[in-house]
Amino acid sequence: MGRVPRPRRRIPVGAFATMTDTTPRTDPHLGGVHAVDAMARAVGVARAARLTARPNPWVGAVVFDAAGTVVAEGATEPAGGRHAEVVALEAAGERARGGTLAVTLEPCSHHGRTPPCTGAVIAAGIARVLIGVEDPDPRVSGEGIRQLREAGIEVTTDVASDMVSDQLAPYLHQRRTGRPLVLAKMAATLDGRTAAPDGTSNWITGEEARREVHLMRAESDAVLVGAGTVRTDDPQLTVRSVEGPDPLRVVLGAAPAEARVRPCLEWSDSPESLLDHLGEQGHLQLLVEGGAETIAGLLDRDLVDRLIVYIAPSLHGGTSGRPLIGGSGATTIAGLRHGRFVDVRRVGEDLRVEFDPRTGPNGEEH
Ligand SMILES: NC(=O)c1ccc[n+]([C@@H]2O[C@H](COP(=O)([O-])OP(=O)(O)OC[C@H]3O[C@@H](n4cnc5c(N)ncnc54)[C@H](OP(=O)(O)O)[C@@H]3O)[C@@H](O)[C@H]2O)c1
Repeated sequence: MGRVPRPRRRIPVGAFATMTDTTPRTDPHLGGVHAVDAMARAVGVARAARLTARPNPWVGAVVFDAAGTVVAEGATEPAGGRHAEVVALEAAGERARGGTLAVTLEPCSHHGRTPPCTGAVIAAGIARVLIGVEDPDPRVSGEGIRQLREAGIEVTTDVASDMVSDQLAPYLHQRRTGRPLVLAKMAATLDGRTAAPDGTSNWITGEEARREVHLMRAESDAVLVGAGTVRTDDPQLTVRSVEGPDPLRVVLGAAPAEARVRPCLEWSDSPESLLDHLGEQGHLQLLVEGGAETIAGLLDRDLVDRLIVYIAPSLHGGTSGRPLIGGSGATTIAGLRHGRFVDVRRVGEDLRVEFDPRTGPNGEEH
């Protein structure tokens, strides 16, 4: 049998999309570039800040001069540094006057660690602003847009908002709910086993999948495992295969005194209170790395935003291996929990499946 061809690119599904893009496809002020493409460029610029901007959102900005030529770009600097639009506007200088600013997130209108960005946009003489998504932070929440309009600037909102909402999903979620976005990740054999009966589970998936997990850790403010996984695997949960910051390590239950996961936060209160606590600390994304009982507990409480399963091309067989999800499970097929696949792609020799446990196949929420 021939090899399965690798898909050429990710299936574009707008995984965290919350808004519909209604932007006109052409913009006379962007030198023939579509507004959506201008925003796509800003999204590309923002990627550089993904691991360094937090606790701030990783925003991107592009400045076009009055003739529609790109003259500067900027991404959010590390906390305490300049916001993306200020970086881009300072680089553009006088060339920004009469021009257009494309920025992924609504410019801030309040004094935080830095002065409000709306003031910088107005002072730069920008004539038009394209915004990807409104900032749900209660200190902004439309006020930035209002201030720009009041200054006579033409503002277009929801430009490529699906794309931007995807990129900023952890930030938008934390500001809307007060809790971090919860990604639960597991590695399984094709028949859904996550550990052998003797407890061993390293390694089920290949190197490329493991590298991706390290990147997900670096992108997460905190990473969580159950005490069972600490006792069996003694994981470090640090970022090693890629360059990036280590997340806060959290254990549900107690970690043995000599566990390699230390120093860590040991949490024996409810998972809800943990999410509230992390949200109050400004944590935007929590990565849960198992095991089966921990993930079952979070799913039962409806606390998982995405379940990400790396499926290896291997079979465990039998019924005694650890399952993907613990707990009591369904007793009849009518009790299945229905969700939706939001992304499926190949990673090395493994498959990565991203599942939304809250939205059914027809888009209905439950
Ligand atoms: N393939 C994979 O991706 C993967 C990932 C992780 C783990 N694993 C494997 O899975 C196995 C371990 O999984 P598991 O399901 O047995 O254990 P687990 O989910 O890691 O941990 C369960 C334990 O966590 C503690 N806990 C859970 N919820 C709690 C809560 N709300 N409050 C306080 N404590 C709570 C309890 O500890 P106490 O018992 O101390 O009360 C509970 O027994 C290992 O064999 C490991 O190799 C596989």
